Parts: sequence; structure tokens; C-alpha cells
Amino acid sequence: MSESPTQQLADEHEYVKLVVGAMDDEVASIERTGRVHTERVAQMIDFTRNFTDGDHHAKEEDLLFPLLEERSAAAGGTVSVLLSEHEAARGCIRAIAAALPDAESSEEARGVIAENLKLYAFLLPLHIGKEDTVLFPLADQVLDENDQRLLAAEFARVEAQEGSAASRERYHAMAHALAMPPTDRETNRG
Ligand SMILES: [Fe+2]
Ligand SMILES: [Fe+2]
Repeated sequence: MSESPTQQLADEHEYVKLVVGAMDDEVASIERTGRVHTERVAQMIDFTRNFTDGDHHAKEEDLLFPLLEERSAAAGGTVSVLLSEHEAARGCIRAIAAALPDAESSEEARGVIAENLKLYAFLLPLHIGKEDTVLFPLADQVLDENDQRLLAAEFARVEAQEGSAASRERYHAMAHALAMPPTDRETNRG
């Protein structure tokens, strides 16, 4: 049998964490050099919008969370905290995307980018930790085999909608590439 829906989400967290690590490194680099790797940050935005939000968070928000709330009265509080964290994370990415076109010319824009990358990279590991250690074990406890099977089928449907397997592969590769240190060539003048 293929892996459970919660295991699938936990596996996706590993890719998200690679990009979060790259964000931390980018913050350190901006603080050290006063310059932004605009291409890399654009890829971080692409990854976060299309993989983390468009695929992973969509499966959590549209499928796992509502089902879990139906099956467990205890899940509601945790789910509402997790949803507000998704929203806060989206806010960081919106701010970064809005500032990125001015990264080369404006110190203020570079500050906004660094600040929001830092906040995102602070928020996400805590969020992922809650899901991995609290929510997913709860889900595995309260969702029966039939729930798990239906959820897995719905996950496959979302993945087909949000992008082909090839595009998921592309985002996996992008996460690994971002986890590598940037070359000097990628550094833009600030
Ligand atoms: Fe989440
Ligand atoms: Fe998650």
C-alpha cells in the first residue's frame, strides 16, 4: 500500500524545510552583504505559492482539516491556530513579492524582504512541528481506514488539479537546488 495521507504531508514538509533553510541563509546573506539574490528569492516565492500553498496547504485546508474537525471535537482549536499560521505565512510571501522588484534600488525594500523571510523561516518550522507531532498523530488515531483511503484519493485529485507529477518533481528539484549555497553569479548588485 502507498503511504498514508499524513505521511505524505510529513514528507512534503521535508521539501518545505529545505526552502526555509535557504530563506534563513538568504537573510544572513542580505544582512552581511546588503544585497539580495533576486532570482533565488523569486524561486522561493514560486515554490511557496505553488508547492507549499497551492498543493500542500490546499490538501490540509480543503481536505485534512475539515475531515479531522468532523471526526474529532479536540481538533478544532489546533486547526484554527494552524489556519491562522498559513495566513500569516501568506502575508510574509505577499510582502516579499511586493518588495522584490525594488530590491536593487531600495534599502527599505531589502529590509522588508529580509524581515519577512526571517519571519516566515521562524513561523514555518514551529507550524510544521505542530502538525508532525500533534495533528498528524491525532489524524492517524481518529481517521479510520475508509477515511484514509478517501483522503488519499482526494489528495491525488488535488495534485492532478494543481499540477502534473512532472511539476511536483520540478518543485522537489527546486527545493534541493535552493538548499545549495548560491554562486557569486547569482548575486545582484544592491
Ligand atoms: Fe500547515
Ligand atoms: Fe503542513
